[in-house]
Amino acid sequence: MEQKLDQIQSATLAQIGAAASTDEIENIRVRVLGRKGELTQILRTLGELSPEERARMGQKSNAVKAAIEEALEEKKSGLSEAKISELLREEWIDVTLDGADSSRGFSRGRMHPLSQVQYEVEDIFTSMGFEILDGPEVETEYNNFEALNIPPYHPARDLQDTFWTEDGNLLRTHTSAIQIRGMKTHKPPFRVIGPGRVFRYEEIDASHENTFYQIEGMMVDRDISVAHLIFIMKQLLSAIFRKEVKVRLRPSYYPFVEPGFDLDFNCLICGGKGCRVCKHSGWIEFLGCGQVHPNVLRMGGIDPEAYSGFAFGMGLNRLVMMKFGVNDIRHFMGGDIRFLEQF
Ligand code: PHE
Repeated sequence: MEQKLDQIQSATLAQIGAAASTDEIENIRVRVLGRKGELTQILRTLGELSPEERARMGQKSNAVKAAIEEALEEKKSGLSEAKISELLREEWIDVTLDGADSSRGFSRGRMHPLSQVQYEVEDIFTSMGFEILDGPEVETEYNNFEALNIPPYHPARDLQDTFWTEDGNLLRTHTSAIQIRGMKTHKPPFRVIGPGRVFRYEEIDASHENTFYQIEGMMVDRDISVAHLIFIMKQLLSAIFRKEVKVRLRPSYYPFVEPGFDLDFNCLICGGKGCRVCKHSGWIEFLGCGQVHPNVLRMGGIDPEAYSGFAFGMGLNRLVMMKFGVNDIRHFMGGDIRFLEQF
């Protein structure tokens, strides 16, 4: 029996030494110390021995059992420590990593090109002392037409141009409605701009959309003339295109200005020599503008004998198209991520 015990001890300790997982350790424990384990079975036979033998073998087998238990414990804690450090090594997370790295499949959002240029224009105007105003997209007929000196028979009111709501309001067709709101809240002298989305019932093609963006501007003070308007427009365009830009005025008609103009700037693509973009004229049509009509001032509660002002309304989409070389207005509302990712 003594021999048998020694054999169990050395064989088991060797197996424990070779075990590579806590599962293996558990198997060894069951095989040797379990209810039907090798050592357990030997202990059961102790009763058959003589009293002296029993005492000696009892001591011996307890020592063997203790040695095995100790080795099992030691190995087990060694293995679980190894397991923990392996987990630490493999499932380690660097919480300081930059999440917006596209190599890990995470793409960063960006601002829409219309917003980018709108904010840029806003900065340029606020640096010149203009205040930014807002207005609703669903407007009254009064603010969009009547107060702007557009009589009921004017073709701009035509059902073909305007989206009307069932209760007699409309989707604003231009940001000029914001001027009217500005005159209600401001007393001259004042300088305001009003950026916003506008709507027209249009056939859509590469240069026409039913939804687009404008920026309105208005400056009212004593003795404001077209010269002030030209100066401000040159400042704006030179700041946006980061070079000296020439402008020219052509007479044009808008019911809310008198005299009214269309303002062009020199084509920056061909430098004025003539190309496809400027339709070989050397000039890009940019915005409508003029001296605020006395009727409009009067309806806004401003005395046209004492004050004068200029107003302008520019298409933001066209400005963005010029700045970034976009050749189709439909891209702006198209929602194609491949287009938007370029800005
Ligand atoms: N509201 C005009 C348009 O949408 C532009 C404009 C604004 C013209 C102000 C003159 C003065 O076409």
